[in-house]
Amino acid sequence: MAGNSFGKAFVVTTAGESHGPGNVVIVDGCPPGISLTVEDLMVDLERRRPGQSKLVTQRAESDTPEILSGVFEGKTTGTSIAILVRNEDQKSRDYASIKDRYRPGHADYTFDAKYGFRDYRGGGRSSARETVARVAAGVIAKKILAEAFGGEVLCYTKQVGPIIAEVDPGSVTLEQIEKLPSGEPNAVRCPDPVAAEKMALLIAEVRKDQDSIGGVAEVVARNIPPGLGEPAFDKLKADLGKALFSLPAVLGVEYGIGFGAATLRGSQNNDIFVMSGEGEARKVVTETNRHGGLLGGISSGMPIVFRAAIKPTSSLPREQRTVTQSGEETTISTRGRHDPCLLPRFAPMAEAMFAIVLVDHYLRHRGQLGLGRV
Ligand SMILES: Cc1cc2nc3c(=O)[nH]c(=O)nc-3n(C[C@H](O)[C@H](O)[C@H](O)COP(=O)(O)O)c2cc1C
Repeated sequence: MAGNSFGKAFVVTTAGESHGPGNVVIVDGCPPGISLTVEDLMVDLERRRPGQSKLVTQRAESDTPEILSGVFEGKTTGTSIAILVRNEDQKSRDYASIKDRYRPGHADYTFDAKYGFRDYRGGGRSSARETVARVAAGVIAKKILAEAFGGEVLCYTKQVGPIIAEVDPGSVTLEQIEKLPSGEPNAVRCPDPVAAEKMALLIAEVRKDQDSIGGVAEVVARNIPPGLGEPAFDKLKADLGKALFSLPAVLGVEYGIGFGAATLRGSQNNDIFVMSGEGEARKVVTETNRHGGLLGGISSGMPIVFRAAIKPTSSLPREQRTVTQSGEETTISTRGRHDPCLLPRFAPMAEAMFAIVLVDHYLRHRGQLGLGRV
């Protein structure tokens, strides 16, 4: 009943809150023999970590994971993997003054309405702190994708406020997402350097105004073989959509041409099938990719491209009207440490959820192959 597990063949279960002792993930169904070290996990945990640039929250967490089980001599054993990431910088005092007031845009009121009791410190289980556990599981999933068929998942900032980046999802690289051409870290994780600079300026500007700004993240999965996805309820588009919607602050999800399909005619929208490559590598592809790599909810072999609309951070240092738990009207300003724009830290979370879904469907697909097909 409770929604703390995700997946059917590659099952990820998380536990943990923003200001508790730590966050845990248990990964069940990971094939044996995948190399896995703390250093592997650190790569994406570091990309997700707070305090990495001036544009994000300054909460100081080292996010060093501890692998508790399922790995022996640097390789997965095939048994359940448990990973713990301790919370180190839980300044609960930052939140004491707002424990009875409902923060606009947060889950305080809805948690009270549901449970009648809530951990008010930093949003408890509704906080994005919880995603640290998913990112650790995502590292394992990415390794499986890479080892099984050279699959890769990348996410980047496509839009901040009115600034839209020009990016080709078919060829964008991790290097472009993480670094500017100058070699400096790409603080907004936008691979279009001209847009990235404008975005960074805009984020700095809204922070000065004690405000925040929303945007759009784009996720691409490449080298994914055709055939992943289960009709009818577990279509790949349905599970990838759920994966993105399960992340905090996501208000919209589309794939391929998405809402743009509404204004097209069929003759303009259809992607034409053609043959590509020679010999054993000869395969069916489409000339264009308005279908976003999914037909009938099953992967077509073309890049799978999704976009997620992310809301502007709700916590603001400026005063806003609200109500208390006992129904009195009052005001609130949030003095904790917050991201003025959520996009820069969103990328590793979306990549993790995408990779988890793709591995789940890959493992399920192997069980669905007809007899005689391997
Ligand atoms: C990377 C990331 C960091 C976040 N950090 C904050 C934050 O510092 N302050 C805040 O108000 N919301 C933050 N959020 C969003 C809230 O967790 C989220 O809006 C809130 O729990 C309500 O959930 P909902 O927006 O999905 O309805 C963050 C979200 C993400 C993805």
